[in-house]
Amino acid sequence: MPKKKTFVLTKKLQHVAFIMDGNGRWANLRGLPRHLGHREAMNRIMEIFETCREFNIYCMSFYAFSTENWNRPQDEIDHLMDYLEEWFAKEIDYLDSVGARLQISGDIARLRDSTRNACIAAYERTKNNNAIVVNVCLNYGGRDDIVRACRAIAQEAKEGKVDIDAIDEPYFGEHLYTHGLPDVDLMIRTSGEQRLSNYLLWQNAYAEFVFTPVKWPDFKRKAFIDCLEEFQNRNRRYGGLKNE
Ligand code: IPE
Ligand code: IPE
Ligand code: MG
Repeated sequence: MPKKKTFVLTKKLQHVAFIMDGNGRWANLRGLPRHLGHREAMNRIMEIFETCREFNIYCMSFYAFSTENWNRPQDEIDHLMDYLEEWFAKEIDYLDSVGARLQISGDIARLRDSTRNACIAAYERTKNNNAIVVNVCLNYGGRDDIVRACRAIAQEAKEGKVDIDAIDEPYFGEHLYTHGLPDVDLMIRTSGEQRLSNYLLWQNAYAEFVFTPVKWPDFKRKAFIDCLEEFQNRNRRYGGLKNE
């Protein structure tokens, strides 16, 4: 019998961010409509969540819908929102029971009522949990995130609530959707694409990037652990000389 691979994560890893890509192509390769790839995608999230728990990773971000994804056909957008709502309904009890906090990053005002309400309900129900954070990036754009923070800070300055010289990086970060979360340590994009697609631009400043050819519906524990191993072998120098 093949020996089960054991992996011990010794490098500090607080926040892993996923770009769950390749779902449409996964479906196409099987002769299925694209939206069945999106349905299958939602079934992978909990296995990845459990693997994060296993390795004591405090925070995970999932890119569910970008500000650019409005450019897709309306029926694909509708399916994506259906599957997201189903996911919230199915998993919220369990997530709450293990102390997970659901954070939503992105402009939910533009979402249809049922999706927005599912987000708000999940957030409200879990907001006092602190064991682990699941950050769902929904109608999220990194540039939008930064512009909104600028606007909020400009407003504070205009009202005399902040001294311009007091605006530093931590202060700015607290005005982003991801306020309160650590910076991204590891950014994983599935499906072979090697770009950020407007994902967590500020938060990824010093992240390690791992690009895997595996499409998200095939991205299971083993594929994730391969990424963790790659991360562990990286030298994080933060501009200095020491390897962390
Ligand atoms: C990513 O999968 C999910 C969303 C963008 C919502 P895709 O739908 O982009 O799948 P591919 O990249 O077309 O295969
Ligand atoms: C990024 O994937 C957005 C999500 C995974 C939600 P896309 O498939 O939309 O990105 P591009 O268009 O290939 O850059
Ligand atoms: Mg894609």
